[in-house]
Amino acid sequence: MANKTNNYTSKKQIIKNNEETKIKEKNASSKNVILSIKNASYRYSDAEEDDYALRDVSFDFESGKMYAIRGRSGTGKTTLLSLISGLERCTEGEIVFDGQSLNKMNLDKYRNSDIGIVFQSYNLLPFMTAAENIILSMDVSGLKIKNKKAKAIELMEKVGLKETYADRKVLRLSGGEQQRVAIARSLSYNPKMIIADEPTGNLDKQTESEILEIFKKLAHEEKKCVIIVTHSQNVCDTVDVIYDLKKVK
Ligand SMILES: Nc1ncnc2c1ncn2[C@@H]1O[C@H](COP(=O)(O)OP(=O)(O)OP(=O)(O)O)[C@@H](O)[C@H]1O
Ligand SMILES: [Mg+2]
Repeated sequence: MANKTNNYTSKKQIIKNNEETKIKEKNASSKNVILSIKNASYRYSDAEEDDYALRDVSFDFESGKMYAIRGRSGTGKTTLLSLISGLERCTEGEIVFDGQSLNKMNLDKYRNSDIGIVFQSYNLLPFMTAAENIILSMDVSGLKIKNKKAKAIELMEKVGLKETYADRKVLRLSGGEQQRVAIARSLSYNPKMIIADEPTGNLDKQTESEILEIFKKLAHEEKKCVIIVTHSQNVCDTVDVIYDLKKVK
């Protein structure tokens, strides 16, 4: 049996999982938890019986806060993100989003309308314009939005892109601009949670700081829950809480 080694570190506290559970119970009513990972473990289907990529992880995420998940290579960051973003289901334990277990939810709907995802390499469609990329995401969500182009421009302005960029092909935007479009796209159906996988990994420090300011505003002013997987110190310095993943032994 593998040891339970996934602890978390917040800026203010270092608490082991079992202690965290007690504190969680005590604070449950006062916290505004939007996503709760409850004793989640994950084993890839081709892995040996006791070879877990993640073991007994319990983290809570609140609306209005910005989080970093960090950890050395192989500690399960990508695995955890694929569980949080509904690409995989936990082998054991569960993830509860807005009071509902992902184990029982339609994960396609969850991904397309409840959470926004931002990738390191932006993952935009390069031969479409910035606005078209954002509108496509609105269409996939199935939400009825009256003037989609106007909404796309509004979202672009929110992330610091002028209206003139709306009709420009993504191919003709800088990396930082593309990431702004990707964030605008992730906001297109107004999700409660934004999940980002190394969103500043391809950007210089100044641009990273500008992108982090956007995430910070989304958390603190619009009360979104923002979760960033990262190796960046700059990101860790900006967020409200850091969760450290440790390797499963
Ligand atoms: N598709 C897979 N099949 C089997 N095992 C996998 C698979 N993907 C990852 N793993 C294993 O799961 C563990 C966690 O991997 P994961 O990719 O989540 O780590 P990570 O923290 O994202 O690492 P990195 O920082 O290098 O991206 C590793 O031991 C890895 O070998
Ligand atoms: Mg990874």
